[in-house]
Amino acid sequence: MAITVYGASGYTGRLVAAELRRRGFSVVLAGRDGDRLRALATELADTEPGDSVDGRKVEIATRQVGVEDPAALADAFRGSDVVVNVAGPFALVGEPVVRAAIEAGVHYLDTTAEQLFVKKVFDEFSGPAQNAGVAVVPSVGFDIVPGDLLANVVGSRVEQATDLLVAYDVHDWDMSRGTVRSAFGALTSGTFVYSDGGWRPGDGTTPYEAVTFPGNVEPTPVISWAGPEVITVPRHVPTDRLSVVINASIVTPEFAQLLQLPAETVATIIDNLAEGPDDTRRAAARFTIVAEATGADGRRARGVLHASDIYGSTAVIVAEAVRRLLAQPPRAGVLSPAQAFDAASFLDFLVPHGYSWDVQTPADAPAAQ
Ligand SMILES: NC(=O)c1ccc[n+]([C@@H]2O[C@H](COP(=O)([O-])OP(=O)(O)OC[C@H]3O[C@@H](n4cnc5c(N)ncnc54)[C@H](OP(=O)(O)O)[C@@H]3O)[C@@H](O)[C@H]2O)c1
Repeated sequence: MAITVYGASGYTGRLVAAELRRRGFSVVLAGRDGDRLRALATELADTEPGDSVDGRKVEIATRQVGVEDPAALADAFRGSDVVVNVAGPFALVGEPVVRAAIEAGVHYLDTTAEQLFVKKVFDEFSGPAQNAGVAVVPSVGFDIVPGDLLANVVGSRVEQATDLLVAYDVHDWDMSRGTVRSAFGALTSGTFVYSDGGWRPGDGTTPYEAVTFPGNVEPTPVISWAGPEVITVPRHVPTDRLSVVINASIVTPEFAQLLQLPAETVATIIDNLAEGPDDTRRAAARFTIVAEATGADGRRARGVLHASDIYGSTAVIVAEAVRRLLAQPPRAGVLSPAQAFDAASFLDFLVPHGYSWDVQTPADAPAAQ
């Protein structure tokens, strides 16, 4: 089976391509820069592939194609089993790739963490994906598979959720240059919140000031986070309100300063950043996710998930999502992770990869203040 990774030459794309090979998939390394793709192909060819998923030889190919030529892009995707899009910022590069995958009749996953892009994909591509008979699943990575799946599990443990909280506590996260570029674009182009049973433009505030994360005595100050869960979770857990927050310390003084500078200055600063953390620093990033659902009767369910290595996790999650998509194709259309994959079973899959997760019903005490 052949998986096309668009944007394979990037920091995350390389991890994703290597993980797919390790899982026994043939990979087509696609993107705009042929030299970078061929260099990666040579590097990967020196690694031992995993047992083939379909008994055929596990191969590596390259395909140089830009996003400005829709017909060539669709041609490049035809014949693949899944397109995985890792080229960002998605606000700038994502749309032609989704369109071309649908045009080629191929399932599509991406690693976007950009909320507005995710909303656009649901709003504009649900009909075309259904008509083409393909599944389109955005945000398949650290952002937001664990959060979306955990929210699904806790949402199913209360009677008619009225309030849902997804709270992140993230530490030692050295962001890749691509993440900073995408995050900066996302933070400066508007956000959505989900309240009174609908999506509305956000103003950067949140009803929550602090969350007591497991293992902590003191509550941690939090800020509103433009997580794609705002767009995806209400599609599988009906609720009046959904809030996504993150520990306020994630916004370092350096990042806060960036937000004050003119866009051209910021672009130059970002261009000069390192491509991403080395393997040791990458593995050091750790995160806790708390998802808490409150039912109409006031009872609560709380899920807690701990893991590390944001970029390594993303590669593992993508490869497993690809496997599941092909083994048990979900219905056609644009889908949240929890609409495409069984939530508890996917979270259990992640346990040997350094994840732990648990749900308490009813929660002993509210996590959020
Ligand atoms: N959801 C998650 O948890 C998660 C995890 C990791 C990454 N991400 C997201 O994934 C994206 C990539 O991250 P990264 O760290 O891999 O960034 P990166 O190293 O900068 O890689 C970006 C990739 O996009 C390609 N690209 C950029 N502009 C393009 C254009 N105009 N046409 C065609 N290709 C283009 C680049 O191609 P060249 O090599 O030719 O420059 C490169 O392959 C970001 O949006 C990031 O936020 C999300």
